[in-house]
Amino acid sequence: MDAPLTRHDGRVTELVTERLELRRWHADDLDAYAAIVADPEVMRYMRSGPAGRAAAWREIAPFIGHRELRGWSQAAVVERAGGRLIGRGGLWEPEGWPGLEVGWVIRKSRWGLGFATEAAREAIDVAFDHVGAEHVISVIRPDNIPSIRVAEKLGETKERSMMTDGVVSDIYGIFRPPGYRPRRSSYAGVTER
Ligand SMILES: CC(C)(COP(=O)(O)OP(=O)(O)OC[C@H]1O[C@@H](n2cnc3c(N)ncnc32)[C@H](O)[C@@H]1OP(=O)(O)O)[C@@H](O)C(=O)NCCC(=O)NCCS
Repeated sequence: MDAPLTRHDGRVTELVTERLELRRWHADDLDAYAAIVADPEVMRYMRSGPAGRAAAWREIAPFIGHRELRGWSQAAVVERAGGRLIGRGGLWEPEGWPGLEVGWVIRKSRWGLGFATEAAREAIDVAFDHVGAEHVISVIRPDNIPSIRVAEKLGETKERSMMTDGVVSDIYGIFRPPGYRPRRSSYAGVTER
């Protein structure tokens, strides 16, 4: 069954973790985001390949629209130390998607520091606690080893394979544990309006 258009009246505008801020997108994020997605290594497992500036803009716009429609979305991931945009991460479930996905893309110079895992952990907490989801997935190309490793660190396991956007993807997933308790009693950084 397709997801309802809006699962929650509140919108997730900002999350703060130990080292990261997951916030809404600003128009002036384009330069930094375009630099990230222009990198062929970052885009190696993306069907679309490296993106030019216009394509980067057309990626950001649906993140903003998704948040308007669903209340949460892929956020701009900012490293708190220095305030630099280092990628995107968070929840994603456009119409027809195989489930509520947690996704991640990190600037190559910041790989291997646990940032994708830190951002995704926060997003999964929001999914279970704020969105009320029972199940969260990640859609990963079978040869994307770093991404599979992130999924495993999050406690996700491989559930099935399927075609998404014309390519075979593995679906990793995690169910909300029985008796789930959020890591924090409230999201200091979640603003609802
Ligand atoms: C996938 C990605 C987001 C991971 O970001 P990150 O911040 O480096 O992730 P983390 O540091 O939290 O974890 C990465 C893990 O992969 C491991 N890893 C990285 N490259 C690896 C390789 N070639 N083989 C085995 N493990 C590898 C790291 O050692 C780490 O695991 P560890 O903590 O057990 O050592 C980043 O590589 C990226 O942006 N890739 C391009 C975009 C992409 O493919 N996104 C996912 C689409 S599904």
